Amino acid sequence: MNKQVEGFMTQAGAAANAAQQVGRSRTHESAELHVAGEATYIDDIPELQGTLHCALGMSAKAHAKLVSLDLDAVRRAPGVVDVITAADIPGVNDCGPVIHDDPILADGVVQYIGQPMFAVIAKSHDAARSAARLGVARYEDLPAVLTPQAAKAAGVGVLPPYHLRRGDADAAIAKAAHRMTGTFECNGQEQFYLEGQISYAIPKEGKGVHVHCSTQHPSEMQALVSHCLGWHSHQVQVECRRMGGGFGGKESQSGLFACVAAISATRLNRPVKLRLDRDDDMMITGKRHGFYFEYDVGFDDDGRITGAKVDMTLRAGFSADLSGPVATRAICHFDNAYFVPEADLRALCGKTNTQSNTAFRGFGGPQGALIMEVLQDAIARKLGKDALDVRKVNFYGRAERNVTPYGQTVRDNVIHELVGQLETESEYRARREAVREFNRTSPVLKKGLALTPLKFGISFNVQAFNQAGALVHVYRDGSMLVNHGGTEMGQGLNTKVAQVVAHELGVDLSHVRVTATDTAKVANTSATAASTGADLNGKAAQNAAWKIRERLAEFAAHKYGGRKEDVTFANDIVTANGEAVSFPDLVEAAYWARVQLWSDGFYATPGLSWDPKTMTGNPFFYFAYGAAVSEVVLDTLTGEWRLLRADVLHDAGKSINPSIDIGQVEGAFIQGMGWLTTEELWWNKDGKLMTHAPSTYKIPAISDCPTDFRVALFENSNVSDSIHRSKAVGEPPLLLPFSVFNALRDAVASVNDYRDEPVLNAPATSEALLNAITELRTRSATH
Ligand code: MTE
Ligand code: MOS
Repeated sequence: MNKQVEGFMTQAGAAANAAQQVGRSRTHESAELHVAGEATYIDDIPELQGTLHCALGMSAKAHAKLVSLDLDAVRRAPGVVDVITAADIPGVNDCGPVIHDDPILADGVVQYIGQPMFAVIAKSHDAARSAARLGVARYEDLPAVLTPQAAKAAGVGVLPPYHLRRGDADAAIAKAAHRMTGTFECNGQEQFYLEGQISYAIPKEGKGVHVHCSTQHPSEMQALVSHCLGWHSHQVQVECRRMGGGFGGKESQSGLFACVAAISATRLNRPVKLRLDRDDDMMITGKRHGFYFEYDVGFDDDGRITGAKVDMTLRAGFSADLSGPVATRAICHFDNAYFVPEADLRALCGKTNTQSNTAFRGFGGPQGALIMEVLQDAIARKLGKDALDVRKVNFYGRAERNVTPYGQTVRDNVIHELVGQLETESEYRARREAVREFNRTSPVLKKGLALTPLKFGISFNVQAFNQAGALVHVYRDGSMLVNHGGTEMGQGLNTKVAQVVAHELGVDLSHVRVTATDTAKVANTSATAASTGADLNGKAAQNAAWKIRERLAEFAAHKYGGRKEDVTFANDIVTANGEAVSFPDLVEAAYWARVQLWSDGFYATPGLSWDPKTMTGNPFFYFAYGAAVSEVVLDTLTGEWRLLRADVLHDAGKSINPSIDIGQVEGAFIQGMGWLTTEELWWNKDGKLMTHAPSTYKIPAISDCPTDFRVALFENSNVSDSIHRSKAVGEPPLLLPFSVFNALRDAVASVNDYRDEPVLNAPATSEALLNAITELRTRSATH
């Protein structure tokens, strides 16, 4: 923990009323289990007798007709019990979450290298994996589309294209004092959850199945499993105590594995576990969408954008999966923190013969906003201005210039104050000077600096998903068990929900335990996604706890006299009419008086609207804000670099748990930095992903974190009535490391004294950085 966090925690601790269970830094409910290695992940669940193991046989072709599939050798391999193909699926061969274009097992045609074609069930994990390699497929090649650019040229999408238009961008750009057109690309990103995809299916009596699944979306898993079996939902129970990370990769894509495990288990009447090896996981599952952008912007002498036209092509992969909502969020985040008066924004979910891309922290928002932040710096360089000054003239205003291109009024804008504070605290101006000075005298090492802000909309664009349920049990000894529809993936959701319940009933957090997410307890839940976990489930659990408190208050008032409104719950003591009784004693007395001591709770976010046809409405309950300043040093001979210092100020509203939120901010910053710098997905000319293991795919390590990392939460309260006025914090900080990417661009631009715009896409790998430096030097030599 760094000094800032420590300082914040003691301040927060001292300031908090002892009775407050929210607004206090508390350790993650599983922290001790995590570090002791005692936290149970799916593969740690004691295996039932007779458990079998499953592995998948994958396509070796990017796009081909599957002429024949010879599985004799697979069947004869040692330890093999059964082999299944598409023909053995009793119900529907589909695990697509929105559009039904996602076969569980390939049927007649393969659409990417790595696509599962058959499943082997064997006595051990290793036996299943070795046997899976023995399948012999005969293919007849079909033309493959391997890049977003090729998909755009061919005009093929997995969905119809998206278009949002406000005003007349063409006219505004045509008459602007300055104009900039060009292209930009950002690559995708592997979620790299530490626990890979896994499902363990256990057959139950009378046609039932219980699936332990590492998933962000148990209800979706339940629906997919019931469809592929041809069963009803009530026959399928899906449970998840925790994930070892999800990051969006287990929102829909846990489905295929849950289905295969359930089909195998119910067919053989044996428990079946399907745990993917890391390489198989990376070959099979979708990732963050890479984007290709074509832009055309107009701006005035101050750098103020007057019109913007952006055409985005996503690498959707072979099927729709969640590409539609990802494209929508990308379009709705192009504006980032800036007013764009005339906008013309298009997105095509390009169909490519690669893994079907899916959710990843930010869900298209980071990609949409990245191009805007690259443009802000480019505009500043073109006008010879400081990029922060250009940003400031473009920021959303308070009372005017405050409507987004999709028509939502920004009511909670704090970007001016937040960035102002960060500018001062990070000594941005002085450091800008120091960087310039350093670069004047340093021929090989070059420094770069950038400040980037963020604004991120919170809620699912699909209105119906913004609902949640909870179930709270108070036992006779006063202890509590909480269940809600959200899933725990390390982000601290269970801790926050427990704090909310403890706070509502005035008991210490130690009396509240949160249990596994289970479709048998709370039904029809939404994915834990779009950062809404605490907002939705916190409110639902509060609602349940509030109902119990009402009943207890009524009982106490009846027993001790006085008004029920005057009964207080704090510090494990209930006070009514001057009488103080311990919470457990009151609960026990209430039990004997036949008071219901458990309750359900429900919440639906108010005031949302969205018209998918015009792409307008009020899709977001509120916005979260943040900003970061990053300083890098770049070796212009090798392309190696280091992040020297990062200053972050992030808006988590009135944080329910500051230390957990700071953990989210730090994690998202480093994860986003990996996406934009070292993590490179690379497919060969046949469409085979060659970077499918940590040996070739470089995620950030502890040594990549800046030694000087100053992370603080911006003091704020949510204007909207969110849970205790906090703000969602899971995804928004992923946009903070745009400052690292732009600082690298700044360092590259210094080799030509900031006269030209570097050609540098994301990720800015050392190789890409060297290429950009060389290109810039060649360009300056030729003009
Ligand atoms: N933090 C950890 N440790 N592990 C994760 O998998 N997923 C992120 C974010 N933070 C993730 C995480 C993503 S993609 C989302 S949408 C949110 O957490 C989901 O949780 P929340 O809604 O409770 O914030
Ligand atoms: Mo997060 S990408 O919404 O799971």
